[in-house]
Amino acid sequence: MQNFEIYNPTYFVFGRGTQSRAGELVRRFGGHKALIHYGGGSVVRSGLLAEIEKSLDAAGIPYVTLGGVKPNPRSGLVYEGIELCKREKVDFVLGVGGGSAIDSGKAIAAGAVYDGDFWDIWSGKVPYANALPHGCVLTLPATGTEGSNSAVVTNEQLLLKRGTRSDFNRPCFAILNPETTFTLPAWHTACGVADIMAHIIERYFTNTPDVDVSDRLCESVLQTVIKYGPVCLAEPDNYEARAAVMWAGTLAHNGQLGVGRQEDWASHALGHELSALYDSTHGATLSVIIPHWMRYTLPGHEMRMAEFAVRVWGCQMDFEHPERTALEGIDRLSVFWKSLGLPLTFAELGAKEEDIPELTRKCKCGADGTVGNFKKLAKPDVEAIFRACCEE
Ligand code: NZQ
Ligand code: ZN
Repeated sequence: MQNFEIYNPTYFVFGRGTQSRAGELVRRFGGHKALIHYGGGSVVRSGLLAEIEKSLDAAGIPYVTLGGVKPNPRSGLVYEGIELCKREKVDFVLGVGGGSAIDSGKAIAAGAVYDGDFWDIWSGKVPYANALPHGCVLTLPATGTEGSNSAVVTNEQLLLKRGTRSDFNRPCFAILNPETTFTLPAWHTACGVADIMAHIIERYFTNTPDVDVSDRLCESVLQTVIKYGPVCLAEPDNYEARAAVMWAGTLAHNGQLGVGRQEDWASHALGHELSALYDSTHGATLSVIIPHWMRYTLPGHEMRMAEFAVRVWGCQMDFEHPERTALEGIDRLSVFWKSLGLPLTFAELGAKEEDIPELTRKCKCGADGTVGNFKKLAKPDVEAIFRACCEE
């Protein structure tokens, strides 16, 4: 296990009716005037926004509201939110909704205390040095943003989707009521399941030895999602299934499952390019990329991938041919995602083979020109994975 540091300060309030705590929590974490930031209207239709407003009223917290966050949140609305916060002297941002509304809120919180263009921070030009305190009310188990140190925004001028990682992105509090997820359409439920699993897979496939604690935690959270994801689809108002998936989503991406190990994140980098170009739903980009990434990175990693097959999917270990066990595990993952209605190929996602050179060119690589760690992928590798995604 490698040395590690983790700062995980989010105060979680989980369960039925917990949205009524929003006002009290804004006050507890230092807010005097809030921005309530939300998406395209699901929280208006469900009545959640009205409940949050009522809670802030009861706590004596004045607020302004800004809705309209689109999936794959855009920088345009972030600029608008920053201006609003500065003008109205907002000192606390409350994101209400899915990962897009919450991430947009995180970017607003950062931009509201920065004199320049917030994209300087999101593009890595200047260090992320401060943010307004922020909290969230989550309605879509998927991104883990409710406890994560990251936030992803698309610059619509540059067609670039970029994330920041900083402890300033960690919410002061997160309210999670599984009942608020009953209204999720099957597609977003399934994409959420894929994203949760992807966050674990990005950590599970590591070359760091002796990380058994987090390995076993990864496997158990994956198994929980594999068990309850289909139940959420079959019975959208099954509280226990929704609750299991919701908390699994938080555990998958609040940092705990990656401690002491090198994480990968190549699949997310490739997936972000698909969302930037086609506005694809994040989880669906991952169900396309990950099985192909696994097949591509399999040579040299047979035992690790076979371990995934055996421990997560219950495959029988073939000690003479571990690659066969590994491939069986990859197939089981693909079949599972397919059964949830998720795409596995470019064609099913609506991505185009002729765009592969552009997707490859834009894919964000580190200073050494590669992306990922389990296998360091240079641009030709990235291109090869995109090409593999075009095959049935
Ligand atoms: O916009 P509204 O009307 O609210 O509708 C949303 C949206 O259309 C709808 N929805 C959300 N909760 C609902 C609901 N509909 C009915 N009932 C509910 N309870 O679902 C649609 C998708 O919402 P969105 O917020 O876009 O989805 P998600 O939570 O998957 O967030 C995706 C974004 O988060 C980023 C992704 O890249 C993408 O931009 N990620 C953020 C991460 C982080 N901050 O840590 C990590 C992830 O890897 C990811 O990159
Ligand atoms: Zn993700």
